[in-house]
This record gives sequence, C-alpha cells and structure tokens, in this order.
Amino acid sequence: MSLLITNGRIITAADDYVADVYCDKGVVVAIGRNLPSHRFQADRTIDASGKYVIPGGIDVHTHLNMPFGGTTSADDFETGTIAAAFGGTTSIVDFAIQYRGSTMRQALDDWRKRADGKAVIDYGFHMIVTELADAGLGDMDRMVRDEGITSFKLFMAYPGVFMVDDQTIFRALRRTGENGGLVCMHAENGGVIDELVKEALRKGETAPKYHALTRPPTAEGEATGRAIALSEMAGVPIYIVHLSAAHALEKVREARDRGLPAYAETCPQYLFLSYDNYEESGFNGAKYVMSPPLREKWHQDVLWKGLAKNDLQVISTDHCPFCMAEQKALGRNDFSKIPNGAPGIETRLTLVHDGGVRPGRISMNRFVELCSTTPARMFGLFPRKGTIAVGSDADIVIFDPDKTATLGVKTLHMNVDYNPYEGRTVKGAPSAVISNGEVIVDGDTFIGKKGGGHFLRRSASQAPAGL
Ligand code: URP
Ligand code: ZN
Ligand code: ZN
Repeated sequence: MSLLITNGRIITAADDYVADVYCDKGVVVAIGRNLPSHRFQADRTIDASGKYVIPGGIDVHTHLNMPFGGTTSADDFETGTIAAAFGGTTSIVDFAIQYRGSTMRQALDDWRKRADGKAVIDYGFHMIVTELADAGLGDMDRMVRDEGITSFKLFMAYPGVFMVDDQTIFRALRRTGENGGLVCMHAENGGVIDELVKEALRKGETAPKYHALTRPPTAEGEATGRAIALSEMAGVPIYIVHLSAAHALEKVREARDRGLPAYAETCPQYLFLSYDNYEESGFNGAKYVMSPPLREKWHQDVLWKGLAKNDLQVISTDHCPFCMAEQKALGRNDFSKIPNGAPGIETRLTLVHDGGVRPGRISMNRFVELCSTTPARMFGLFPRKGTIAVGSDADIVIFDPDKTATLGVKTLHMNVDYNPYEGRTVKGAPSAVISNGEVIVDGDTFIGKKGGGHFLRRSASQAPAGL
C-alpha cells in the first residue's frame, strides 16, 4: 500500500517545515513540496494541512501481560498496543523476565509467545535479569549478538522478587562493556524500603498512602547515586528508569556534569500527578500505587527543567495497569499487597503536548526528541525509527494541535477500570496513526490488525555517541 501525506508540518527532533511525505511498502520513499503526482501515485492520500506530521511515538517502558504482585497486568499485547496506537505510539519496548532458575532464552521464548501474533504495532524487549551466574553472562552476550535484546533491566528494589545485589549489578554492567548492551536500572534502596514497610505495618498503617511514605525520595536518590557509581567503576553507560524525584535527578545531573554517560527517563505520572493523589478518599489512593511512588508536587518543576536541559533524555510510560476491582483490591487491608503499577500507554503524547509544549516548557522538536528520537537512539532503533526521513519506517502520527480530548475510562482504550487522569481535558491529539505505512488509527477508529506488529531485533544503544 502506498500513502501520500500532503501539506503537513513535518516536525522531527531537528526540523520543522511544510512538505508532503510519500510512503510505499512500509517505508518513507520521498519528502518534498508538491511531489509530482505522476511519480507518486498513492492508494490513499491524507491532507494534513494545519497538522503536525511527527515520527511515531516510541515507548521504551511497558509491561503488557506481565505476572506481578500476585496477578497479571491487565493489558495484553493486543489491547495494550491498540491503546498505544490510539495514543500515537507505534513501537514499544516491553520487558521479558528471566526468573531465577531459568534462562534468558526461556524468558524470551515466553514473552515472544505473549506478543507474537497479537501486537498491532512493532515491539521489542529488554531482559529483566534476576540472577547472573557465569552461564548468565554468556546468555547476555547471546541476547545482544543473536536476538536483538540489547538492554537489561536490573532492580535495586523488590527484595525476594527482582532485587539483585551490587556484585550482580557490577557483573552485568562490566559485561555490557564487552557485549555492547545497556543496563537499565530500577533505582530504589530495597533493603531500607523493606524495613520501613515492616515498621509501618507493625503500627497498623495499612492505607495506600503508606506505600509512598515508606519509599522516600532519599531511597531513590541513594540508589541512583550508587547505580551510577557502579557504572562508573565498570566504565560503562547506565540508564535509570522511571526517575521520579529531584534527589535522583541531582545524582544524574552531577554525573553528567562530570562527563559520565548517565542517562535517565521520567514518566508522565511524575510530571502530572503527586503525593496528594494518595490522600484521595477511601481506597482510591491505590490507583496511584506504583514504584517509585508519586512525589510531592514541587518535584514536578525540577523534572520539567531536567527534561528541558537534557539531564533527562526520555519520557516513557511504565504502563503497568491493574484494575481496582480484584487486582488493586488485593491490598485493601495492606498497602504492600497492592500490585504496583498504573496505566499510561495511551496518554503519553497528549499529556506531554498539553502540559509540556503548550505552556512552553519544551519545544515541539524537544517533544519529538523525548518521546521518539532519543528512545530510538538509546535502544538501537535509529534511524529506522524515531524520525521521518527517506528510508525510515513509515511510522508516522498526524497530530492535530487543536483537537481536544477528555481523558477517562470511557474515552480511552486501555483494558483497565480506572484512569489516573479521569476527566482531565487536553488539547492536541493524534488524528491518524500510521504503522509501517498502514493507517491503523483513523480518527476515532482502529483499522489495524491483530498481529500486524513486528518483533524488533534491536542494535546496540547509540546513546554514547552523542547524548
Ligand atoms: O510500579 C511499577 N513501576 N510497576 C512496574 C514494575 C517496575 O518496577 O517498573
Ligand atoms: Zn521498575
Ligand atoms: Zn516498569
């Protein structure tokens, strides 16, 4: 199928100009003003006058169909990627889990089964590492070299589930120096948090807000500093995931000022929600139980400044939805049993445009850079993804800056019974979404197909080259 997008304002991380884009067989073939119709005949033409034509969003932090906290995240690879597409995201990087006693190969096979034939947009995987014996080091090499799994998530939190010790982290970091992989770190001090949680429960403090009160920002700051120190000693880059607190950003900034290749992402929930949400009536605070937790409101400004100044390089979602009924309810009498995570895969672009671009906190170019281009570079997908250029995949969003949307369970497509932004009106939303040259979202209608997404075999991170 061939597609011609006319008269749109093409915005990439670097450019902003009006032109036509011609796509054929899934890739961008030509870009120019008034492309000659005899050479560029298209099966379909979209008039994008007055709209932005931007590279499809890339969300490098999602958890679809993930067993966690005694249940499984509520979106599978079909429902989750349809919701992503509605929100203007055309590629995700999800997480396969290498459980203790099993191999990375088994983990990848398991997660490929969850996604293959279901995802409607392209998808890749990071590998969550929960133990790293000598055989595991070889596994890491094979993942990078043979499978296109070029990044590994390690946890400094969740003792007994995912947490690994500093020695394991150091071994993994060191190995990425040889195999070209990148370590992504969940940086919270799990030991301290575990003690604080036990103490709170002993005192009968069981409400959702104690989830936040037992995970102080200092626990995130300490772990972020330690993770960076470990990467410095290993002599390799590091990427901090879901950074929520000024305390942690301070550590990243200080490292970057010293010239270290330390990178970090934040997520919309940390930019738009705050500790106050935990004080909502009854059990409603459970909607926001995620790790790291929401912080006091003042952190938001610090994070926005970090995004503007490139101390933070990526906005991802950490989409990990659990329904209030039956799933979050597991922790009705004990906050530590509330499954950690919240929905967000569909609302990233609209929220960041409305709350970041419109008030002038970041430019449109920076918006594209944070939500598409740098994620692609950081995780080995650029320039196939993350830009609009001749030869790149035709993953394109026609974004209408004047379209208003009211966020809520009824208007959104995620398979979850609440939305953290219920009732919030945003200006600016996708009017069409194109994946590999096919229109998959047309206005308010999904016209893609189950299994239409491809597995992404990623290259090594290109981050150290220039970020
Ligand atoms: O609360 C969260 N973030 N749930 C997903 C798992 C993780 O740590 O990213
Ligand atoms: Zn995490
Ligand atoms: Zn996560």
